[in-house]
Formats: sequence, structure tokens, C-alpha cells
Amino acid sequence: MLIKSAEFVCSNTNVGQLPAPTLPEYAFIGRSNVGKSSLINALTNRKGLAKTSQKPGKTQLINHFVINGDWYLVDLPGYGFAQTSKKNRAEWEKFIRQYLTKRDNLQCVFVLIDSRHEPQRIDLNFCCWLGEQGLPFMLVFTKADKQSMVKSDQNIAKFKKALLTWFEEVPLVFLTSAETKAGTDSILGTIGEINEN
Ligand code: GTP
Ligand code: MG
Repeated sequence: MLIKSAEFVCSNTNVGQLPAPTLPEYAFIGRSNVGKSSLINALTNRKGLAKTSQKPGKTQLINHFVINGDWYLVDLPGYGFAQTSKKNRAEWEKFIRQYLTKRDNLQCVFVLIDSRHEPQRIDLNFCCWLGEQGLPFMLVFTKADKQSMVKSDQNIAKFKKALLTWFEEVPLVFLTSAETKAGTDSILGTIGEINEN
């Protein structure tokens, strides 16, 4: 898919104030610092579209971007951010879960996972919760440029195996890098196909 335009629409913590659910929507979620905002910039070819940072906890709101005037891309705050209070974490949970379960136009959730790590409980639990809610999701392994392909493939295989404890089949998997843009065409192609159906 060719990106002709990518524009910021709004930031929200209030699910009641999101843009009207008139366009298909795709949300990017995952641990704090996993590379959600960077991947959104790589996908859209716009360096500063989503704000990124070396420090975890950068994205705090639900950020909507409209792509080619016909679908929404959503950057969400990360989970598992250690340096936050219990209260903040509970609030995050509440508003993100509300967003994910109430957003009628949400087509697919892209769950980002750091390809450098062995399967983490927090990511597996989040995938299980999505499954329980009946929310379609795909897995996006990030930061592939940081280690060998062999290592990434090993971690992906372990993650898939762990998921098969709960799921009958594993969802689609992408291996990406915001640095080299590896995997970005595949994600855009998949979004394009869903949009057409
Ligand atoms: P929060 O908004 O805090 O939840 O983080 P995030 O998931 O949006 O991560 P962000 O995109 O801000 O990236 C975090 C850090 O990882 C930044 O320093 C990025 O430059 C770096 N980073 C993200 N993706 C990649 C990648 O594919 N390769 C490399 N080498 N670095 C990456
Ligand atoms: Mg972010």
C-alpha cells in the first residue's frame, strides 16, 4: 500500500471523545518502549508523526492518525511500565481495555513484542485477554536489526509455542525493524487487504 497522506487527528484519554468510528481502525499496543511509535513512523514514512523516546512511558494517550484519508492508525501507551504508580497502571488498564472492547470500527490489534527477548508473561497474558474478548490480533516482533535473524526466529518460535497452550492456532506474525523498515510492507499489505474486505 502506498502512503499518500498521514495526519495526526487527536489525542484522548476519554473513550467518549474519540473520532467518530466511521473508518476502519488498527491499534498498536505492547510493552512500554517496545517500539510502537517508531514503527508507526516507519510504516507511514513520517519521522516525527508519533512521538518516540528512549525512556519508556512516552506515549500516554490514545493517539489517532488518519492514513490516506481512509483508515485510522492508533498509537497507544505501553503496558508494563515499571516506573509508574499502581494507580496510574490501574487507570491505564481501565481506559485501554475500555477502548479495545468498545471500539466498533477496530479491525485488528497489532501486539508488539521485542524480538530480543524470550516470551514474557505480560505479553502472553495480554494476548490471552484479547483472545477472551474475541478481539482479532496479530503479532509484530520489533527491533529485528538489534540481533541475528536466527535469534529473532528462536524467540518467535518460543512465543508461538507458548501461545499454543491457550490458542488452537497462532495469529499472523511479522518481524520488523523501524530502523531498516523490514516487515513494514507486509503489515501495510495486510491492512490493505482487510480494508478491502
Ligand atoms: P512508549 O510510548 O513509551 O510505550 O514506547 P514505544 O513502544 O512507543 O517505543 P518508541 O517507539 O518510543 O521506541 C523506544 C526506543 O526504542 C527508542 O529509543 C527507539 O529509537 C528505539 N527503537 C524502536 N524501534 C526500534 C527498532 O526497530 N530498532 C532499533 N534499533 N531501535 C528501535
Ligand atoms: Mg510510544
